[in-house]
Amino acid sequence: MRVTGTIEEVRQWMAPPRAAGQRIGLVPTMGALHVGHVSLIEEAVKRCEVVVVSLFVNPTQFGPEEDFNKYPRPFEEDLAICQRHGVDVVFTPSPSEMYPRENLTWVNVTGITEPLCGRSRPGHFRGVTTVCTKLFNIVGPDVAFFGQKDAQQATVIRRMVADLNMPLEIVVCPTFRQGDGLAVSSRNQYLSAQQRKDATAIYKALQEGRRMIEAGAVDPILVCERVEAVIRRVPAMQIEYVSLVDPETLQPVQRLDGAVLIAVAARLGPARLIDNILVDSRSS
Ligand code: PAF
Repeated sequence: MRVTGTIEEVRQWMAPPRAAGQRIGLVPTMGALHVGHVSLIEEAVKRCEVVVVSLFVNPTQFGPEEDFNKYPRPFEEDLAICQRHGVDVVFTPSPSEMYPRENLTWVNVTGITEPLCGRSRPGHFRGVTTVCTKLFNIVGPDVAFFGQKDAQQATVIRRMVADLNMPLEIVVCPTFRQGDGLAVSSRNQYLSAQQRKDATAIYKALQEGRRMIEAGAVDPILVCERVEAVIRRVPAMQIEYVSLVDPETLQPVQRLDGAVLIAVAARLGPARLIDNILVDSRSS
């Protein structure tokens, strides 16, 4: 496994496999790798001849009050995980390598970046789409892998790639859950033991939403209220949103008669937790 922090080197390393027609897979991450990332890496290893993992805590996607400074950066552990799982190249640039001067050029997906997380994190998706564009331009992957846990991010990236004719495929892998249903996230390490237990209310609530839809509920407001009620059983949990939206447009659905994404964001102590499930009410 080769590791570099420079754009020049990663470009040099990618040229021969590209010329040889090998399939290059990119798993963009902010490090603090966990089993969810490992599932993306495994999928990349299965589908691609060369696998690149980027480790970069991207400053432009954090708001001024957010956790950029305290975001975990267990560099050596991350490298060991990559090594164990068959990664070929780790790209770990510094902020000044990625943003050597004031950044004047941004990639901005409109509309679908406004609801859900876009409401409480202005500028977040602009940072994500800009850094992903830069990573795609630097590595030149044939495929890039994202997790369904960040459903809005995955939808936004797919749309950006389609709208801008970027020559790569986006693969979205299922959310990786712990035995009790909690979606694995680097931010779970901010939780105390009690908060870690309380956090499972989110998945329980999502399942309750699924159960209602599968039992024939057609009114999204009723489902939303029920999901919120289950989360509120944990008094410490502050709901940011519970929304039933169309998985592509991310607009609220008026009636449950097709595919719907139930998406939740809530604050629990120091952590902001997000989760979602896709339910197809037609298949119930
Ligand atoms: O999902 C993440 O970890 C980040 O948003 C990403 C895609 C690596 C961009 O910084």
